[in-house]
Amino acid sequence: MPSSRESGHLSTHTVDSIQPIIWDSRGCLRLLDQRRLPEEETYLEFTDPREVAAAITDLVVRGAPAIGITAAYAVVLSALRHSEHPQPLVQIEQDMEVLRAARPTAVNLEWALARMDQLIHSCDPSSMGRLAGDLLQAAMEIHQHDIAANHAMGELGASLIEPGSAVMTHCNAGALATGGYGTALGVIRSAFGQGRVRQVYAGETRPWLQGSRLTAWELCREQIPVSLVTEGAVAPLFREGLAEWLITGADRIAANGDVANKIGTYSAALHARHHGARVMVVAPLSTIDFSADSGEDIPIEQRSPDEILTAGGQPVAAAGAGAWNPVFDVTPAELVDVIVCETGIARAPFRESLSALAGRNTASGG
Ligand code: MRU
Repeated sequence: MPSSRESGHLSTHTVDSIQPIIWDSRGCLRLLDQRRLPEEETYLEFTDPREVAAAITDLVVRGAPAIGITAAYAVVLSALRHSEHPQPLVQIEQDMEVLRAARPTAVNLEWALARMDQLIHSCDPSSMGRLAGDLLQAAMEIHQHDIAANHAMGELGASLIEPGSAVMTHCNAGALATGGYGTALGVIRSAFGQGRVRQVYAGETRPWLQGSRLTAWELCREQIPVSLVTEGAVAPLFREGLAEWLITGADRIAANGDVANKIGTYSAALHARHHGARVMVVAPLSTIDFSADSGEDIPIEQRSPDEILTAGGQPVAAAGAGAWNPVFDVTPAELVDVIVCETGIARAPFRESLSALAGRNTASGG
């Protein structure tokens, strides 16, 4: 259960130097094209919500909280686009269906769309003219809350790390994957600033290379020492005691504390635990899915075999070979030491501690 000393509090923060998602007041959404990083920093502009859905599927924007924030802004685009339509709500609902299907594992997508949907349905028919403005305010609040949550989690998570530690992270759970600052990388940034982290090992994260391309880019910009490791090097890394913590984000956390995150997280957690390192998962409350009783209830996205069979458009496998490409895995709760949320730190038994952090009453099953 969280102690009061560990309780998080949210406050306002200045804009991060890395901004994956920008709302343009002319009524368009700008997304940093993460497929082109680190070579190019290019923003794509969107006014069509269905093109935003395609951009989420195609990984222009990725990372659970960033996907949720993007979908919220896409609902604003939908309201603007259909403002003159005789049945705007039907049109917006259809766009939301397309957005909801863009990626299946990150629950923040459903969470953000549910918030927007609630607002749409509470809207008085006589004030439909204000709908887009009200939705924009809600999307901006989701965005700002996410940044504030990341800073709160950064402080909470950093407080657990001994000065001078080395840590491993996997995938990218940084500013790029969120509204700004990052979840796992938020902890690492805060801990580096306090002298608690001296060295980061980042899993390269086959096949899309979120670790090599994105995490390394973010950390190098801030001059935080980072060394990449292949997935195969994770066992010897922990056996040699090179890192004291594995710190990752999450795409969906079940009520029992099972954690879905980028493929490779489960094996990294097994290796860390086996060799005595600790496992920290950092995620906002919007990533907890209390309707999923355990990891078995979490849908795991399968992507095209081509992501494994090719690199940069060039074949890298024997012609005729197939590939199995689940892009997330589930780390069982028993391998996780702590789950850091914006309201505090959860420890086993997670069913109780996560409910307490979310302000839910477990006695009534609520
Ligand atoms: O396929 P991706 O790049 O969207 O996967 C992202 C991850 O697995 C992240 O670790 C997770 O979304 C947490 S981001 C704060």
